[in-house]
Amino acid sequence: MSRELYERAVAIAERAYAPYSSFHVGAVVRARDGRIFEGVNVENASYPLGICAERAAVARAVGEGCRPGDLEEIAITASPCGGCRQWLYEFKFDRVTFKNAEGEVVSRTPAELLPETFEL
Ligand code: THU
Repeated sequence: MSRELYERAVAIAERAYAPYSSFHVGAVVRARDGRIFEGVNVENASYPLGICAERAAVARAVGEGCRPGDLEEIAITASPCGGCRQWLYEFKFDRVTFKNAEGEVVSRTPAELLPETFEL
Protein backbone atom coordinates (compact mmCIF):
# COMPACT_ATOMS: atom_id res chain seq x y z
CA MET A 1 0.00 0.00 0.00
CA SER A 2 2.75 2.47 0.92
CA ARG A 3 4.73 1.57 -2.17
CA GLU A 4 1.65 2.15 -4.36
CA LEU A 5 1.10 5.54 -2.72
CA TYR A 6 4.75 6.38 -3.30
CA GLU A 7 4.49 5.48 -7.01
CA ARG A 8 1.47 7.77 -7.26
CA ALA A 9 3.47 10.60 -5.68
CA VAL A 10 6.18 10.05 -8.30
CA ALA A 11 3.56 10.19 -11.07
CA ILE A 12 2.10 13.53 -9.94
CA ALA A 13 5.42 15.27 -9.12
CA GLU A 14 5.62 16.55 -12.70
CA ARG A 15 2.68 18.85 -11.90
CA ALA A 16 4.81 20.82 -9.43
CA TYR A 17 5.29 24.53 -10.11
CA ALA A 18 8.99 24.80 -9.31
CA PRO A 19 10.59 27.23 -11.80
CA TYR A 20 13.15 28.47 -9.25
CA SER A 21 14.55 25.25 -7.82
CA SER A 22 13.49 22.83 -10.59
CA PHE A 23 12.99 20.38 -7.69
CA HIS A 24 9.64 18.78 -8.40
CA VAL A 25 8.05 17.09 -5.38
CA GLY A 26 4.84 15.06 -5.20
CA ALA A 27 2.97 13.99 -2.06
CA VAL A 28 -0.08 11.76 -1.68
CA VAL A 29 -2.11 11.39 1.51
CA ARG A 30 -4.41 8.44 2.23
CA ALA A 31 -7.11 9.05 4.81
CA ARG A 32 -8.40 6.26 7.05
CA ASP A 33 -11.70 6.32 5.13
CA GLY A 34 -9.82 5.67 1.88
CA ARG A 35 -9.90 9.18 0.42
CA ILE A 36 -6.76 10.28 -1.41
CA PHE A 37 -5.36 13.83 -1.47
CA GLU A 38 -2.55 14.88 -3.78
CA GLY A 39 -0.18 17.82 -3.50
CA VAL A 40 2.82 19.27 -5.30
CA ASN A 41 5.20 22.06 -4.36
CA VAL A 42 4.21 25.51 -5.57
CA GLU A 43 7.00 28.12 -5.67
CA ASN A 44 6.86 31.89 -5.90
CA ALA A 45 9.20 34.68 -7.02
CA SER A 46 9.17 35.72 -3.37
CA TYR A 47 10.91 32.50 -2.35
CA PRO A 48 9.67 32.06 1.25
CA LEU A 49 6.06 32.11 0.03
CA GLY A 50 6.41 28.76 -1.70
CA ILE A 51 4.61 25.74 -0.26
CA CYS A 52 5.94 22.20 -0.01
CA ALA A 53 4.12 19.29 -1.64
CA GLU A 54 3.23 17.55 1.63
CA ARG A 55 1.76 20.68 3.16
CA ALA A 56 -0.25 21.26 -0.03
CA ALA A 57 -1.63 17.69 0.21
CA VAL A 58 -2.46 18.00 3.92
CA ALA A 59 -4.13 21.40 3.34
CA ARG A 60 -6.38 19.80 0.72
CA ALA A 61 -7.34 17.06 3.15
CA VAL A 62 -8.15 19.60 5.86
CA GLY A 63 -10.26 21.59 3.38
CA GLU A 64 -12.29 18.44 2.83
CA GLY A 65 -12.91 18.04 6.56
CA CYS A 66 -10.01 15.87 7.74
CA ARG A 67 -8.46 16.48 11.15
CA PRO A 68 -5.44 15.12 13.06
CA GLY A 69 -5.86 11.35 13.38
CA ASP A 70 -7.93 11.03 10.20
CA LEU A 71 -4.92 10.67 7.90
CA GLU A 72 -3.30 7.25 7.86
CA GLU A 73 -0.30 7.68 5.64
CA ILE A 74 1.56 9.98 3.28
CA ALA A 75 4.09 9.27 0.56
CA ILE A 76 6.52 11.96 -0.59
CA THR A 77 9.08 11.88 -3.38
CA ALA A 78 11.61 13.77 -1.22
CA SER A 79 12.76 13.62 2.36
CA PRO A 80 10.42 15.98 4.25
CA CYS A 81 11.88 19.33 5.32
CA GLY A 82 11.97 20.35 8.98
CA GLY A 83 8.79 22.45 8.82
CA CYS A 84 6.87 19.66 7.09
CA ARG A 85 8.00 17.21 9.77
CA GLN A 86 6.21 19.42 12.28
CA TRP A 87 3.05 19.25 10.13
CA LEU A 88 3.30 15.47 9.82
CA TYR A 89 3.60 15.24 13.60
CA GLU A 90 0.58 17.54 14.11
CA PHE A 91 -1.66 15.40 11.90
CA LYS A 92 -0.65 12.13 13.62
CA PHE A 93 0.10 10.08 10.53
CA ASP A 94 0.78 6.41 11.24
CA ARG A 95 3.41 6.28 8.55
CA VAL A 96 5.46 8.57 6.30
CA THR A 97 7.02 7.00 3.20
CA PHE A 98 9.68 8.90 1.29
CA LYS A 99 12.90 8.58 -0.66
CA ASN A 100 15.82 9.25 1.66
CA ALA A 101 19.22 10.76 0.89
CA GLU A 102 20.59 7.29 0.05
CA GLY A 103 17.87 6.88 -2.58
CA GLU A 104 15.97 4.22 -0.62
CA VAL A 105 12.21 4.39 -0.18
CA VAL A 106 11.64 4.09 3.58
CA SER A 107 8.70 4.39 6.00
CA ARG A 108 9.01 6.22 9.31
CA THR A 109 6.69 7.53 12.02
CA PRO A 110 6.38 11.30 12.53
CA ALA A 111 8.02 10.88 15.97
CA GLU A 112 11.02 9.19 14.36
CA LEU A 113 11.32 12.13 11.98
CA LEU A 114 10.89 14.73 14.73
CA PRO A 115 12.01 13.33 18.08
CA GLU A 116 11.38 15.06 21.39
CA THR A 117 9.00 17.63 19.94
CA PHE A 118 6.88 19.86 22.18
CA GLU A 119 3.14 19.44 22.86
CA LEU A 120 0.76 22.38 23.35
N1 THU B 1 10.12 20.73 -1.05
C1 THU B 1 8.95 20.04 -0.84
O1 THU B 1 7.96 20.23 -1.57
N2 THU B 1 8.92 19.16 0.19
C2 THU B 1 9.98 18.94 1.04
O2 THU B 1 9.81 18.42 2.13
C3 THU B 1 11.32 19.32 0.59
C4 THU B 1 11.31 20.58 -0.21
C5 THU B 1 10.14 21.72 -2.13
C6 THU B 1 10.13 23.14 -1.64
C7 THU B 1 10.78 23.86 -2.79
O3 THU B 1 9.76 24.18 -3.74
C8 THU B 1 11.72 22.84 -3.40
O4 THU B 1 11.31 21.58 -2.90
C9 THU B 1 13.19 23.07 -3.07
O5 THU B 1 13.38 23.19 -1.71
